[in-house]
Amino acid sequence: MRSVEWSDGDIVIIDQTRLPERVEYLRLINTDQIAEAIRAMRVRGAPVLGIVGAMGVAQAALRTRSASARAVFAAAVDAGSALRATRPTAVNLGWAIDRVLDKGRRLVATAGATRLAQMLADEALAIQVEDDEACTAMAKHAQGFFRHRGVVMTHCNTGFLCTGGSGTALGAIRLAYETGLEPAVIATETRPLLQGARLTAWELGRLGIPHAIVVDGAAPGLIARDDVSLVIVGADRVAANGDVANKVGTYPLALAAREANVPFVVVAPRSSIDLSTPEGSAIEVEERAPEEVTSILGGLQLAPPGTTALNPAFDITPAELVTAIVTELGVSRPPFERSLRALARGARAAAPVKEKPATKTAKKQAAPKPKLAKKPAAKRQPAVKKAATKKPALTKAKKKQAAKKKPASRRANKRR
Ligand code: MRU
Repeated sequence: MRSVEWSDGDIVIIDQTRLPERVEYLRLINTDQIAEAIRAMRVRGAPVLGIVGAMGVAQAALRTRSASARAVFAAAVDAGSALRATRPTAVNLGWAIDRVLDKGRRLVATAGATRLAQMLADEALAIQVEDDEACTAMAKHAQGFFRHRGVVMTHCNTGFLCTGGSGTALGAIRLAYETGLEPAVIATETRPLLQGARLTAWELGRLGIPHAIVVDGAAPGLIARDDVSLVIVGADRVAANGDVANKVGTYPLALAAREANVPFVVVAPRSSIDLSTPEGSAIEVEERAPEEVTSILGGLQLAPPGTTALNPAFDITPAELVTAIVTELGVSRPPFERSLRALARGARAAAPVKEKPATKTAKKQAAPKPKLAKKPAAKRQPAVKKAATKKPALTKAKKKQAAKKKPASRRANKRR
């Protein structure tokens, strides 16, 4: 099953707002319908937004019914502008639209209208195929961070629903499961639209991977009390310095992971890396409707009538909290400023290695974890083990210093 299919110029998606109650397919036949589906989060997640955006551009070109290649290309450009404006944070959307339009720009003077439209469709489909391949490669590169029977925490939804393949972070978890590493997954519910509780739990259930969901507020505490061996998430945009924009609620997980010396790993295709954005503070964070917070999925009203809400859809995790960024090209390590640029040059930023449990953090990961539900609360944090595995935390003085720093100063990238 793929979350998006190209069907004679129509785009068929799984309507993610209907999950997990039912798998309902939607056929999108014009730009307005595609834009609505993206805004309403019927289709969501950075890589698949790119795929749908690219297909949308191609669809507009194919449906132009003009003998003029210039008219076909103009329609593609208009569709690209409309679709690009739907959601601002996921860089994949604009990247994929630009890629298809760039192809058109190179051909418009020489190709006929029909051939031009077909070439745009081919380019959109190539993006989907490449994303599938990227998922496979990312999953392999990420395996070194998994330990046998580790407890893995993930946020939002990063599986097949939002990629052209098996997923980013969830694709890596899936491969770990399929190769016998027996991961147990904690999925954060991901307020307000519950991508974790609805979509990740649904995907994990279909795959037979043991999992539990937790409210977002519980997650940092679980990391702190030694219940988690790896935090692994996706990204909507990674800035040149390694700052990561991802679903709101990611940053607290990264903070807690740093404090507890748990690896915090970002899995994202190269198309999510935006070297033209120097750092996270320059990333536009989408603000969504307050009603998503004051009610549950447009139904039950939670807050008193008239209450407003802030609803940033993403947050920025500073690079210094990120252990590694895994793309299809390998594992990038701090300093990301350098390793991500090397990646962009097509070089491997670091070998796609099997991590060796040489560091204290890795040793901690390697320690077998008792099963999720069976852990008696009182025994969850054996003080000796905690002490033996804990890296020296930031001193109070350093913490104060860090708190005073402005986002720009994060470029110093102090990492473990
Ligand atoms: O608002 P959403 O649901 O589109 O946000 C999605 C995320 O934040 C994902 O973590 C991210 O896109 C990675 S998808 C493989």
